[in-house]
Amino acid sequence: MNKTTRRTVIAGNWKMNKTPSEAEQLIGEILTAVSGKSTSGCEIVACVPYVDIDAAVKAAAGSVVKIGAENCHWAKSGAFTGEISADMLKACGVEYVIIGHSERRQYFGETDVTVNQRVKAALEAGLKVILCVGELLEQREQGITSEIVSLQTKIALMGINENQMSDIIIAYEPVWAIGTGKTATCEQADEVCGIIRNVIASLYSDKVAQATTIQYGGSMNAKNAKELLSMVNVDGGLIGGASLKAEDFAVIIEAAQ
Ligand code: PGA
Repeated sequence: MNKTTRRTVIAGNWKMNKTPSEAEQLIGEILTAVSGKSTSGCEIVACVPYVDIDAAVKAAAGSVVKIGAENCHWAKSGAFTGEISADMLKACGVEYVIIGHSERRQYFGETDVTVNQRVKAALEAGLKVILCVGELLEQREQGITSEIVSLQTKIALMGINENQMSDIIIAYEPVWAIGTGKTATCEQADEVCGIIRNVIASLYSDKVAQATTIQYGGSMNAKNAKELLSMVNVDGGLIGGASLKAEDFAVIIEAAQ
């Protein structure tokens, strides 16, 4: 198996943007922007705020766009005020969930261990996971990117078996590139996605590593997507800012064909 046989996935991460009515409108605009164009070369996902899920699922029903959430809790239910379980997401028609985004790690005390717990809960609920890993700028400058990203990947996948890996996408998102307009070079993106692939090979097998979709995320946009997506180890994108503009998101989807 190689890049051409792996699933390419273009996922939008809306973060804390859009009300339900705005979500319905944006999904409609995305569908209009991709209509008449070939989308068979990639899977399209929109990861939306919890309160937008219902509107987004309805707006995307029967279309090429799948709906994801941006986080989930690890417990099935209980005294966790303000939290949302993976089962709740599944019941709302969600197919994907982002876990371990650097903004969760940075602002909400997410650790590698809680990322692992959330990954397990999401898989158990029947959700597909977009697992985010990535180094800080100072870590890149210290030359420890490989160690950091490898460790994040290994801990996040603790207790996950080979069969479950088919429901996991890994998103390499260098923290210094997120929302900064400072994109990793194609070579940097490809190198670290390749490092992650090697980690998966060491944990499971070369076959699993070759079958796993590894995305790049961090200021991917309509202009740079084609070049990034052409790299041998980059199997898609996790897109923040540019996913809020239907035209730009459609250009990225086109670049993935
Ligand atoms: P960005 O965000 O595309 O706005 O840099 C990416 C992400 O945080 O997933």
